Amino acid sequence: MELGLNGKVALVTGTGSQIGMGKNIALNLAKEGCDIISADMDIEGAEKTAEEVKALGRKCMTYKLDVSNQEDVNKMVKAALEEFGRIDILVNTAGGTAQAGPIIQAPEEKWERDIRVNFFGSMYCAKAVLPGMIDQKYGKIVNFSTGIALNGMPGSSSYAGAKAAIISFTKCLSMEVGPSNINVNALMPSMVMTNFGSHGTMDPKVAAQMAERLPLRRLTTTQDIANLVMFLVSDVSSGMTGKIIEI
Ligand SMILES: NC(=O)c1ccc[n+]([C@@H]2O[C@H](COP(=O)([O-])OP(=O)(O)OC[C@H]3O[C@@H](n4cnc5c(N)ncnc54)[C@H](O)[C@@H]3O)[C@@H](O)[C@H]2O)c1
Repeated sequence: MELGLNGKVALVTGTGSQIGMGKNIALNLAKEGCDIISADMDIEGAEKTAEEVKALGRKCMTYKLDVSNQEDVNKMVKAALEEFGRIDILVNTAGGTAQAGPIIQAPEEKWERDIRVNFFGSMYCAKAVLPGMIDQKYGKIVNFSTGIALNGMPGSSSYAGAKAAIISFTKCLSMEVGPSNINVNALMPSMVMTNFGSHGTMDPKVAAQMAERLPLRRLTTTQDIANLVMFLVSDVSSGMTGKIIEI
């Protein structure tokens, strides 16, 4: 099946973590023929990812930014447009939790950080790339929510709330930009063993016990996530928008 990704330019945020979802998404996009903007606050990580993208024969620029800072985001998109002339795909992977804790004791700076990084960060990146996508009448945006946005988890009100806001944002934006041939969808991953929280350092025995309770008897992998992103940014899913997909 032809994905139609060859020659496209993809901006992927959150590519710094070497065991994270963003890096693997960037590498899978590069394998399908995309040039990449590898963006993260962890510039060393983003550069390591860029080296691997280049080894696959694609162009890659790196950019250090905090996605919760709109000025950073706008400068990155300007630099990317100068380098590549267009941005076809935005994957808003950058995110995380300040681990604010139970609401009665949670410091407000941590609430604000969760909301700014996860919700505002995704909106800033979308706002910055959209004028170009609208002009070219083509664009694909993938946002990241989380299973706990719907199911809840004690101590995660601000993180889960920000990720729930991403669901509404995805649906509203899909309606606003659909007439310009721009698809906007979101993923709602369950637990994946990355640097997020303490997942990557979890005792393998505990992880195995968790997996036993799942229908497939295994945890979701970063490759499962990348496969779904490839589908959502490809021509194959061009009839889907405003969808929130649990994986
Ligand atoms: N791992 C999970 O179990 C899980 C589950 C559901 C949703 N998610 C979401 O998936 C996405 C990817 O997370 P991951 O699991 O790969 O985690 P990760 O920690 O391995 O990678 C996240 C990357 O985002 C970068 N980042 C964080 N805040 C940033 C900021 N303000 N500006 C720029 N870069 C920033 C980090 O430096 C890191 O490289 C996140 O949005 C996360 O909230 C993760």
